[in-house]
Amino acid sequence: MDAAAQNRVKYPQDHRQPAALFGGIHHLQLHGPPTLEFSTPEAEMDAMADLVEAGKIKSIGVSNFNADRIRRAYDALSKRGLPLILNQMRYNLIHREIETDGTLAAAKELGITIVAYTPLGSGILTSKYHKNPELIQHKNAYYRGTLKRELEQTRLLISVMEEIAANHNATLAQVALNWVIHFNGDCVVTIPGATKVRQAEESAAAMNFVLSADELVRLDGASRNLK
Ligand SMILES: NC(=O)c1ccc[n+]([C@@H]2O[C@H](COP(=O)([O-])OP(=O)(O)OC[C@H]3O[C@@H](n4cnc5c(N)ncnc54)[C@H](OP(=O)(O)O)[C@@H]3O)[C@@H](O)[C@H]2O)c1
Repeated sequence: MDAAAQNRVKYPQDHRQPAALFGGIHHLQLHGPPTLEFSTPEAEMDAMADLVEAGKIKSIGVSNFNADRIRRAYDALSKRGLPLILNQMRYNLIHREIETDGTLAAAKELGITIVAYTPLGSGILTSKYHKNPELIQHKNAYYRGTLKRELEQTRLLISVMEEIAANHNATLAQVALNWVIHFNGDCVVTIPGATKVRQAEESAAAMNFVLSADELVRLDGASRNLK
């Protein structure tokens, strides 16, 4: 049995279920910038394994771990007989770096779920800045530059998303989320942010339809070369 299958057999998909996530503190996330290495993945995972053995947490997830750190964390936990359940990474139709830097491949190989953060590109993929560019002026100077660049880069993508959204009677946000959770089989789940209840409801409803293979390919083509 390969490593991915072993991981899934030990924890049979329950970590993907909302009930498991919200029925108590199921995961303890470890947030740490990989460039500031005050410790090692091995030391961090040993500490996390201690918490599992003490009954304080049920399973272990990390955040912003690149392929090398995922593999080191996975190996360290394997020595303690524990799986690495998830890795939280930025992933959306604009930022697809994990597809080419080895992070997604390592996660797939080892059976680790990618939890995609900023799946809506912090609002760019909802087209709110395309429709009201003046909103950018309210952002801080650094972010303004990024938003202006991303707004220009994504005009074609947004028009493709609008066509696809119309096919499903869906919103752009729902198309963006649907692509994130379906483009890589069952390896990726997502945690969209929301400032309003309506947005949270709309995001949840993005799971009610599935983009066709042709639509996934069109979105892939319109976004592949953005970064
Ligand atoms: N692990 C990490 O290092 C890391 C880093 C960053 C973020 N995160 C996490 O990732 C999650 C999401 O990040 P995020 O909120 O920055 O980005 P996001 O999910 O890409 O964008 C969320 C924003 O889009 C807008 N929106 C949400 N649903 C919408 C809808 N249905 N229709 C239209 N607009 C909608 C809302 O902003 P408006 O209402 O203002 O338009 C909302 O705040 C958060 O839980 C955050 O903690 C993790």
